[in-house]
Amino acid sequence: MNDPVYEKTSSLYDKYVMQTYPKADIVFVRGQGSHVYDSAGREYLDFAAGIAVCSLGHCHPAVTAAIREQAGKLVHVSNLYMNEMQPRLAQKLVEHGFDGTCFFCNSGAEANEGLIKLARKAGSEKGRFEIIAMKDSFHGRTLATLAATGRSKYRKGFAPDMPGFKFATFNDFDSVAALVNEKTAAVLMEPVQGEGGVIPADPDFPARVRELCDKNDMLLLFDEVQCGMGRTGTFYAWQNYGVAPDALSMAKALGNGFPIGAVLASRKYSHVLTPGTHASTFGGTALASAAACAVIDTYDKENVLANVNERSGYLMGRLGELKEKYPRITGVRGKGLMIGVVLDCPATPYCAALREKGMLALSAGENVLRLVPPLNVSQADCERAVALIEEVFAEDAAKNQQNN
Ligand SMILES: Cc1ncc(COP(=O)(O)O)c(C=O)c1O
Repeated sequence: MNDPVYEKTSSLYDKYVMQTYPKADIVFVRGQGSHVYDSAGREYLDFAAGIAVCSLGHCHPAVTAAIREQAGKLVHVSNLYMNEMQPRLAQKLVEHGFDGTCFFCNSGAEANEGLIKLARKAGSEKGRFEIIAMKDSFHGRTLATLAATGRSKYRKGFAPDMPGFKFATFNDFDSVAALVNEKTAAVLMEPVQGEGGVIPADPDFPARVRELCDKNDMLLLFDEVQCGMGRTGTFYAWQNYGVAPDALSMAKALGNGFPIGAVLASRKYSHVLTPGTHASTFGGTALASAAACAVIDTYDKENVLANVNERSGYLMGRLGELKEKYPRITGVRGKGLMIGVVLDCPATPYCAALREKGMLALSAGENVLRLVPPLNVSQADCERAVALIEEVFAEDAAKNQQNN
């Protein structure tokens, strides 16, 4: 391959970057909207969006301008002092539907660490520390969030697990209720499971768990790191269900790629974490907060949630038609623009086939092709995506026919 940028970058990775990710064979150098460009100049339709991060697409001008302006003014002063942007961001988050207060951090795992600490601190005087999490969940790669992660493959090699986590079956209320005891502090779930295979909570599951938590003086915690920030068609994923948690975590799309995470606690639990009990040096810097403020303002200005619901209707409908046509596809599920195309076989080869055709998509669980495009994706790009997906499954069907 005569691509000096690729060759140079690849050799630097080999020598200097710890290989905790499978080695990629592509270098992206530029992005704009729902499209990214590799070092050879090839364009890709991006339905991965940096794993549900770039919800306004790549390099949205309003976010880029806000980052540029704030970077020239004030980047960081620490939380020993106030900056103007952090409380503005907190106000916007609250005004989008969750009354309480915010703690800012840098990633999804760190936000979930905050949720876990909040629940333990709230329960500490009553000797409550256990958290009921869900099988097939994913909450992050730090030791506490790994211990809370239901899929055991992520924990392999890091024993012993941090104690205090029990696992119920997602969408099985009785399995949650069966784990409650006098030590239970909280129930933790993703309203729509992401890494586990794009699995939405059943319509009545959050409400029943909410009632269980209220009866037993336990916190209900929602991990909205992937499914929050409009991804499912409402600003907060819980708004789909009308069931507010006591606290929730966010990250990914909050900064459209600029790293920032947040813990939101309801008024009742807003004073559990007191000075000295929790902190993060980089949490809510002026720069990160300015980026996230610009993201939220752009959602409102460009009516992004309406776009999510319109495009979702189109994609779900068309993908449902493909399901009828190609037996390889056994289901289509999800909410908003968090869509899982369920296959009867591993999804990774289909991601690779789509990439060959110039489209990025993800897998989830083992057999799910996950589509998480930018939330402001155009109708034309959705049509293109469906056409490419159809090509892949048509070629796959033809190949299978030849082999039989
Ligand atoms: C639901 C959920 N929680 C937490 C995380 C961890 O976020 P991060 O990688 O930013 O630590 C992820 C990442 O995929 C996620 O999907």
